[in-house]
Amino acid sequence: MEWRNSKRLYERAQRIFPGGVNSPVRAAVKPHPFYVERAEGAYLYTVDGEKFVDYVLAYGPLILGHRHPKVLEAVEEQLEKGWLYGTPAETEILLAETILKHYPSADMVRFVNSGTEATMLAVRLARAHTGRDLIVKFEGCYHGAHDYLLVGAGSAASHFGVPKSEGIPEAVAGRTLVARYNDPDSVERILKKHEDKVAAIIVEPVVGNYGLILPRKGFLQELRRLADHHDVLLILDEVITGFRLSLGGAQEYFGVKADITTLGKIIGGGFPIGAVLAPEEIMERITPSGKVFNAGTFNAHPVAMAAGLATLKLLETGEPYRVANYAAKKLAEALEDLAGRYGYDHWVSHIASMAHIFFTAGEVVDYESASKADKESYLRLHRELLRRGVFTAPSQFEVMFTSAAHDRGVVEETLTALEEAFKAMRGS
Ligand SMILES: Cc1ncc(COP(=O)(O)O)c(C=O)c1O
Repeated sequence: MEWRNSKRLYERAQRIFPGGVNSPVRAAVKPHPFYVERAEGAYLYTVDGEKFVDYVLAYGPLILGHRHPKVLEAVEEQLEKGWLYGTPAETEILLAETILKHYPSADMVRFVNSGTEATMLAVRLARAHTGRDLIVKFEGCYHGAHDYLLVGAGSAASHFGVPKSEGIPEAVAGRTLVARYNDPDSVERILKKHEDKVAAIIVEPVVGNYGLILPRKGFLQELRRLADHHDVLLILDEVITGFRLSLGGAQEYFGVKADITTLGKIIGGGFPIGAVLAPEEIMERITPSGKVFNAGTFNAHPVAMAAGLATLKLLETGEPYRVANYAAKKLAEALEDLAGRYGYDHWVSHIASMAHIFFTAGEVVDYESASKADKESYLRLHRELLRRGVFTAPSQFEVMFTSAAHDRGVVEETLTALEEAFKAMRGS
């Protein structure tokens, strides 16, 4: 693989950006990132004239694929009318109403600009609502790049060896306690030890930031029960799962209810967005109704509102889910089959339009078991696929996403590349 134009761009980038990139996982593609010229449907087209089937999809937002014509139309329409007003517009009401229709656990919304901002506000809100300080999170879950929750964090924080970032005061990091995913007892121990001091439990209902780890049957319900029993708020971070597992996200999929929900990614249709949702009594604490401060120059950005609304309207037809979920199912089946046939210990996880493979002999249910997987084999597969025109996550701690653009033709193309990739791995 020789990406000459990308190499030249990366050399320039390294002089001006830390690590040459603006978000760390982008530097995980080796020998250096490829630079994209344009994208359409299931494909990325690079400045080196290459074409990749995209299973990264910008790490989750693009459930319709790239440059969906209906989203493009909505964005263009909005641009014609201006793109930032600093005062409200109807689109924010329409998007919030659409979201709330599918999230019966909430009455109100605050739009922000990223998942990071959403979980930051959710934690502040939970602390204000309960009058308590401590937060329980799970090892390997990632909730964004802010001080409250960058402890035991997955995603790029784990890939680059900083699950607890430098620069976070101990006084802040010490307020975040880390439990074990799929292990309600580990949560109960913390809640009992710190009775009346914990404000909230925050969890990715399906872990999408330490590879893909599914909740065991009853785990989320048990968290709900523990939260109620100890009078603690349950924050479901649905930045990935919201509108991906189903229209009502993990809450609908697993039949569990959050006190506070955080959303992002898909609801902005590929534009920067985050959202906090909760019942009125909690949400009314946010400024200007209440005293939990939040503000943002770009909050409820009209272009993100328009793109998000167009995306959700299409999702409501159900068709995008049929295509995307079928593609992920075929991908997971092929990974299972090929890893077995080529003699690899493996664990394939799959749900809705997400899939992942761990090269490991045991089951993967939490951070510890996921950490045992052979990252080198995962990266080897990623590289062999890239050579064959398929872009999968360049890190063991991300997942494969599919979209409505991953139709049967795209899937067939991928399955051929996948078989060749496994053959190449075994051949050397
Ligand atoms: C579950 C979860 N929460 C929060 C975030 C942070 O979102 P953002 O990258 O938009 O700040 C992410 C990002 O990947 C995420 O996966």
